[in-house]
Amino acid sequence: MADKIPYLDLPAQIKSVRKEIDAALARALDNCSFCLGPDVVQFEKDFAQFCGTRHALGFNSGTSALHVAMRLVNAGPGDEVITTPYTFIATSWAISYVGAKPVYVDIDDATFNLNPKLLEKAITSRTKAILPVHLYGHPFDADPILEICKKNNLPLVEDAAQAAGAKYKSKTVGTLGDISCFSFYPGKNLGACGEGGALVTNNPDFAARAKSLREHGSTQRYHHDEVGYNYRMEGFQGAVLGVKLKHLQKWTDERRHVAERYAELLADTPLKLPREADYARSAWHLYTVRHPRRDELKKFLDENGIGNAVHYPIPLHLQKAYASLGHKPDDFPVAEKAAREVLSLPIFPELTDAQIRRVAEVVKNFFRR
Ligand SMILES: Cc1ncc(COP(=O)(O)O)c(C=O)c1O
Repeated sequence: MADKIPYLDLPAQIKSVRKEIDAALARALDNCSFCLGPDVVQFEKDFAQFCGTRHALGFNSGTSALHVAMRLVNAGPGDEVITTPYTFIATSWAISYVGAKPVYVDIDDATFNLNPKLLEKAITSRTKAILPVHLYGHPFDADPILEICKKNNLPLVEDAAQAAGAKYKSKTVGTLGDISCFSFYPGKNLGACGEGGALVTNNPDFAARAKSLREHGSTQRYHHDEVGYNYRMEGFQGAVLGVKLKHLQKWTDERRHVAERYAELLADTPLKLPREADYARSAWHLYTVRHPRRDELKKFLDENGIGNAVHYPIPLHLQKAYASLGHKPDDFPVAEKAAREVLSLPIFPELTDAQIRRVAEVVKNFFRR
């Protein structure tokens, strides 16, 4: 059998920056700045500049950044936060952690993102914030959502966990809402060597409070103004992310190239391919195709050594953890159909043209049988 093609080749990425990372980690070790510290501060500056925002704060995960974002908008018991049912579950966890209720709005079939046309009728007197996701690295349609936020005086929190480097019109994702949260989980477009996340904002009050909440609700040691968390980014992760951030633009371009090649090579297959909306410049975190025979295709790719994954098999409103919300099948039919049909193909900057062609060939063989 031909060589296996991994779904994600992290060793290849580490290899390409190994020397820089070794040097950065050695420096961090010498500094003994293991929790926050100078490498994290430098990364925060660089990441804020990359996004084009005034403040970026390093967190120990994207989930904790989202949790703090929900504290910043003062969501709590009895409140509702409107979000998408079609995402990684951490988006909803953040709402649940503060005791608020996730209120789902179905997605747009073309982009997999929260459908702005359905948003307004989900707003109630209890709504505290809107929390859409830039799923798969493709920006959500921010303008109509922002208009609704403005009209209803609601903050917009972006879950940009998958979308570092994506653009909405001319704006970098992370600058569209009041607060944006990123994940630096190792497999993300900008991945740490461990867990990591960031909260990004232009609002100095949000930034100051987030900084305090990240560190036990304190700005002065052993003085605690409110209940906080230990959500600090580790010094080692700041060092690694500082190195990798320098390569992110190039890596995003390479991902974009992979997506273009798939679009060419798979154009005449029965698959529904992902396309960028007019307003979008996707970061192509995932390349997710659709077909009603998804499970058979998945099995065929598995048998032929082509890495693949389903993002996501169960929408959040049908997850056991959210049974208490009382949803039933068909509540969000667009998300549910997507969950039955999606399959993510290998996409990463180091994917070679020969590998791309092999993936396409195996997909074509499936439909030729
Ligand atoms: C859309 C989305 N939101 C939130 C998260 C949570 O990020 P983390 O894994 O860094 O906690 C992730 C990543 O896994 C994600 O994909």
